[in-house]
Amino acid sequence: MRKRPIVAIDGPSGAGKSTISKLLAQRLGFAHIDTGAMYRCVALAALRRGIDPGDEGALGALGLALHIDFRRVDGEQRVFLDGEDVSAAIRTPEVSLLTSKVSSVARVRENLVELQRRMGERGGVVLEGRDIGTVVFPGAEAKFFLTASARERGRRRYLELRDKGLEVDLETTIAEVEERDAADSSRRHSPLIQAADAVLIDSTGLSIEQVVDRMEAVVASCDKGQEAG
Ligand code: DC
Repeated sequence: MRKRPIVAIDGPSGAGKSTISKLLAQRLGFAHIDTGAMYRCVALAALRRGIDPGDEGALGALGLALHIDFRRVDGEQRVFLDGEDVSAAIRTPEVSLLTSKVSSVARVRENLVELQRRMGERGGVVLEGRDIGTVVFPGAEAKFFLTASARERGRRRYLELRDKGLEVDLETTIAEVEERDAADSSRRHSPLIQAADAVLIDSTGLSIEQVVDRMEAVVASCDKGQEAG
């Protein structure tokens, strides 16, 4: 039995996973693994090396050859690809677009899942993604499926883009969120689905604080169960 639990947080984009996973990990004193950042690293490397996004063999091999790790720099978690801090470089729209292609390649997923298991197996960790509770750690002690209505997630995305100075339309942004949801839940490999034993949290009407509080209470109760068992 692990001394400290594995916490899995899955859900669609825009539900607040990143902010909430980071805060929850801080409160618990756990490590935080953003698995989306790992898929983004593979996409960034493919882009830099000029690999054809349709070449699944080359993408799969690339996933194996890369060295991806998370390090704390000045109290902030950063992601490193082959020793280079790529935390900002993996967030460009170009990389985001390629990541959704890269993350549907079976061999890329197999390699990254293997790496995620090695990173998290000792427990004391919060992993966020799409398939943590279903594929990566089906035996995780605490599992959450964090969501919000497509309208709310679209609205958040719209505000975020507008804050960056981009010209965006609210209804179009909401429609894009709905499209991405449909693609994520219908893809052949590891579609986004809620694990049967995951605690569903709809963040639509909740503050960040309220969501983190609820999660912390669930983790505390499963920790007690571990001590007893
Ligand atoms: O969470 P994010 O937006 O950084 O994720 C980037 C992409 O990676 C997104 O298209 C979903 C995909 N992803 C995935 O397929 N499986 C994961 N465990 C995490 C992310």
